Amino acid sequence: MQVKAITVSEYKQRRDVLMKNLEQDTIAVLPAATHHKRTHSSEYPYRQESSFYYLTGFNEPNAVLVLLAATNEVILFNQAPNPKKSQWEGPVLGQEDASKVLGVDKSYNIAEIDEKLPALAAGKKVYSTQASLPWLEGQDVKALAGIIGEQRLIKSPAEIELMRKAAQISVAAHQRGMQQVKNCEYEYQLAAEYEYVFKHKGGNSLAYESIVGGGVNSCVLHYQANTEKLKSGEMVLVDAAAEYQNYAADITRTYPVSGKFSSQQKDVYEVVLRAQENAIAQVKPGNTWAMIQKQVVNDLVEGLLDIGIINGSKDEIIDKQSYQEFYMHSSGHWLGLDVHDVGAYTQDEKPRPFQNGMVLTIEPGVYFSELGLGVRIEDDIVVTDKGCDILSKGLAKSVKEVESEMAKSA
Ligand code: GLY
Ligand code: MN
Ligand code: MN
Repeated sequence: MQVKAITVSEYKQRRDVLMKNLEQDTIAVLPAATHHKRTHSSEYPYRQESSFYYLTGFNEPNAVLVLLAATNEVILFNQAPNPKKSQWEGPVLGQEDASKVLGVDKSYNIAEIDEKLPALAAGKKVYSTQASLPWLEGQDVKALAGIIGEQRLIKSPAEIELMRKAAQISVAAHQRGMQQVKNCEYEYQLAAEYEYVFKHKGGNSLAYESIVGGGVNSCVLHYQANTEKLKSGEMVLVDAAAEYQNYAADITRTYPVSGKFSSQQKDVYEVVLRAQENAIAQVKPGNTWAMIQKQVVNDLVEGLLDIGIINGSKDEIIDKQSYQEFYMHSSGHWLGLDVHDVGAYTQDEKPRPFQNGMVLTIEPGVYFSELGLGVRIEDDIVVTDKGCDILSKGLAKSVKEVESEMAKSA
């Protein structure tokens, strides 16, 4: 089932909020993403620039959004209808419908931007999502990223529903993957099981290139080749998720190719699982990333010492950060229109407290290349007023749940 798109009035409200956060003598200029060539006369799939999309919900290229704080005016430069071009590429929104459909105050043909934008920007402070603007050469351009990042960091109820949908499509894909791995000889075949579900269930894209690493490849954090044979007796790490109406999910599960954990695999897996569950329990208003990271490091080191896979003193391993040999990434990140979403991680140079409406991943992992064993477990979490809600809930995670999911026939 489709989830309702963000309403025009919510997009308008977002532009109003941004406008209020700008000084009076300011103009904000947000260009749409450009198409990128892939091969001769063939392009990569189009993905709108996230902040432009956040403020418009408009998915066309060759467009520029302009906010004039002094007059509280929203202007869109966009493509003019062209019957010959639409024969090949389909219709475009055009100027007449832009106000009605997007709620902008004015819409001009993008062909007029060279002439009109310099006049609009004359004597103003220019803020943009781009470092420089071809239409305003020589004019100082300040970064809009900080201001809009703060706004995008707190998700609205409508955004959270879209993100829940992205996560649930991804959960269904992970379920299919766990069930189908018995029929997959190669990593790419397992990736295909996931990617089929992303598209079949209405995801507009992968949220990022699927990472499907068997054995030693599970230790390569951003492994994307997905070309090797899956071997019984090894674990496979799958970090794969869909994007829905441009909102990302980001989910990782690690499971035994054979469907049954060996005793060592189970021990290591349960250390990571405990760290992840304890970290999720800490996601609530007022707590911080620093607290989560400390908890994760403590649980991983303590757990790995307990099972005897590492040796030494817990305090020393933590103080000297030698755990970075097997745990070398952070415990998570903001999630939204970008998979590594915008928004500052600190406030006034101090760890930033979590707030209702923030969405983040929790993803501890450990990587032992010499054992050909990497384990990461990643879920998507929204901070609520009392604690948190797991957007990716329903996906097998304990050893027992994973083994029983894998035993189902697809
Ligand atoms: N899939 C990228 C990440 O987990 O950050
Ligand atoms: Mn992640
Ligand atoms: Mn991930």
